[in-house]
Amino acid sequence: MKTFDSKIGKIDIEQTYNEETKYNDIKLIDSNNKETIGYVNFKFNYSPIRSAWLNKIEVTPKYQSMGFGKVLLKLFERYCMESRIFYIEGKFFPENDHAKPFYLKNGYKIEKEYYETLITKTLNIKQKIDIEEMCK
Ligand SMILES: CC(C)(COP(=O)(O)OP(=O)(O)OC[C@H]1O[C@@H](n2cnc3c(N)ncnc32)[C@H](O)[C@@H]1OP(=O)(O)O)[C@@H](O)C(=O)NCCC(=O)NCCS
Repeated sequence: MKTFDSKIGKIDIEQTYNEETKYNDIKLIDSNNKETIGYVNFKFNYSPIRSAWLNKIEVTPKYQSMGFGKVLLKLFERYCMESRIFYIEGKFFPENDHAKPFYLKNGYKIEKEYYETLITKTLNIKQKIDIEEMCK
């Protein structure tokens, strides 16, 4: 577990891997009250190409619109790059009004819109992600 400073005080980052489902979770926890700020859930695929499947990202309502969704996305992207995975795919449901502007603002591309909206992003290998700096 790692701890860093943010505008709301100390935050813990916890990462877990489920051997059975092969899904990873990166979770942000408010150190003051131990509440979950939010989490990102994803898995890596190695065939036919190395890619990440971004299953879900969720920020607890009282912590929304403070930049934590973006922090979670960047922690996920940094872990992808450390794992030499540069292509991300994901989905959300179109009735979700928050998801579309959130992903577009963070550099994701809408690939297909039907009963689910498919998104992709190719990571820039030269990108430096400084989480501590983002949280100031
Ligand atoms: C979508 C979600 C994860 C965003 O998290 P968040 O912590 O509120 O988002 P952030 O504060 O990090 O915002 C990041 C950027 O997206 C934009 N954004 C976030 N929510 C937005 C909204 N409702 N409408 C428009 N833009 C929005 C912000 O303007 C921000 O841009 P900026 O960095 O230029 O200011 C959060 O609203 C959530 O958990 N929603 C419910 C679950 C969900 O919809 N998950 C996504 C699909 S799986």
